[in-house]
Amino acid sequence: MFENNNVNLELLKRRAHNLRWATVADGVIPLTAADPDFPSAPEISEAICSFAKDRYYCYGPAEGLTDFKESVANYFQVKRNVPVSPAFTFPVDSAAFGIFVTCQTFLSSGDEAIIFDPVDFLFRYSVEAVGATAIPFAIPPNAVKVDFENLEKLITPKTKMICLCNPLNPTGKVFTKEELTQLGTIACKHNLIILSDEIWSDIIFHPAIFTSIASLDEEIRNRTITITGFSKSYGLAGLRIGAVIAHNQEHFLKLMEVSLHYSTVHGANVLSQIAATTALNKCEYWLNDFLKHLTVMKELVVNELNSIPNFRCIAPQGCYVAFTNISDTNKSSQEMQEFLLNRAKVAVVPGLKQWFGDGAEGYIRMSFATSEEILLEALQRIKFALK
Ligand SMILES: Cc1ncc(COP(=O)(O)O)c(C=O)c1O
Repeated sequence: MFENNNVNLELLKRRAHNLRWATVADGVIPLTAADPDFPSAPEISEAICSFAKDRYYCYGPAEGLTDFKESVANYFQVKRNVPVSPAFTFPVDSAAFGIFVTCQTFLSSGDEAIIFDPVDFLFRYSVEAVGATAIPFAIPPNAVKVDFENLEKLITPKTKMICLCNPLNPTGKVFTKEELTQLGTIACKHNLIILSDEIWSDIIFHPAIFTSIASLDEEIRNRTITITGFSKSYGLAGLRIGAVIAHNQEHFLKLMEVSLHYSTVHGANVLSQIAATTALNKCEYWLNDFLKHLTVMKELVVNELNSIPNFRCIAPQGCYVAFTNISDTNKSSQEMQEFLLNRAKVAVVPGLKQWFGDGAEGYIRMSFATSEEILLEALQRIKFALK
C-alpha cells in the first residue's frame, strides 16, 4: 500500500494543494504540508460511494451523526483511556476549526493564551483571530527537559488558556505522562482551560508512548477541550473533518453555540463524517501499515539528513515531519528554503515565525509521508546541491 507505484503523481499534481504537488513547478518535490502522498484506505471510498448512491444529501444533525460521535467516543475510551461521552463530542469541518472554535469560546479580546514555540501556526492564528494575545512558551527542539517553572512565570491574571499540541508539530516531541501532569497541575492551580490538539496522536514511533492529558484525572479532564482530526492518520485532509470533545456539559453547550452549527452557518459535511467513522471503525489495519512505513522513512530521513555537513536532525518521537537545524550552514531558514527550491528542486517549510513561531529560526521542516523512492530522490538532490 505504501510502495512507490501507489503514489499517483498525475492525480496529486491536480489535487494536492496547500504548498504541495499542485502548487509547485514541474519537477519540484514538495516535502511541505504534512499530507500523505498515498491514497486513503479503500473502505473509505466504498462507504462514501455507498451513501452517495442513494442520492439523498439531507441536513444532518447539528451535533453530528450518532455513528460519528459514538466512534470518536469509543476511540478515546479504548485507545486513549479517556472516558468520553458521545453526547459531548461533535464533528467540525477540520481540526483547524476545532482549534479556532475553542479559542473563540474561551478567549475574549485582551485575554492571553500560552502557545508553544515552535508550534504549528494554527495556534497563534486562532488566538489572535479572536482578539487575544498568544504568549510563546519556548520548548526548544533539543530541550532535554521542559521548563515548567518558566511556563508558570508566563501566567498573568489575563491568561485563560494553555494550548497543548501533543505530539508537537514541528519538533515531533511526545509529552510524557509526568510532563502532562505538571502542565495539568499548573492549569488547575491557575484555573486555565487546556486546549489539547491530539491530531498527531496516532503517529507515534516506538518507544515513545502517547498519553492524552484528559486521561490523567478528573480535575484536569474537566478543564480540557480535546481536538482531533483525520488529515494526518488517514489522509482525509480535503474532506475537512475533525472532532471537538468537551468533557462536561457546560463546555459542550458553549462550544456548540459558538460553533454556529445550530444555525447551519457552519457544520461538518455528512460524507466527511461517514469517511471519518469508517476510518475509525474499519481502517486501523491501514493506519498500522502506514505507521510501519513511516517508521522506516523516519530512520532513513534522519540518517540521511545527519550525514549532510552542518545539518542536525533529532529523530521525531511522533509526527511525520523531520525538523532539521541548519544554523551551522550560515544560511537563514528562508535562505535555505529558497536555495533548496532553486538548486535542488525540493520544497521544504522554512522555520519562519509565520509557520512555527520565533523558536523555529535556524530550522527547516520536511514531511516524510511519501514513498522511499521519492524521499531518497529528494535527499540526494539536497545533498548534491549543498556539496
Ligand atoms: C498540530 C496540528 N493541528 C491541526 C492541524 C490541521 O488539521 P486539519 O487538516 O484537520 O485542519 C495540523 C495540520 O498540519 C496540525 O499539524
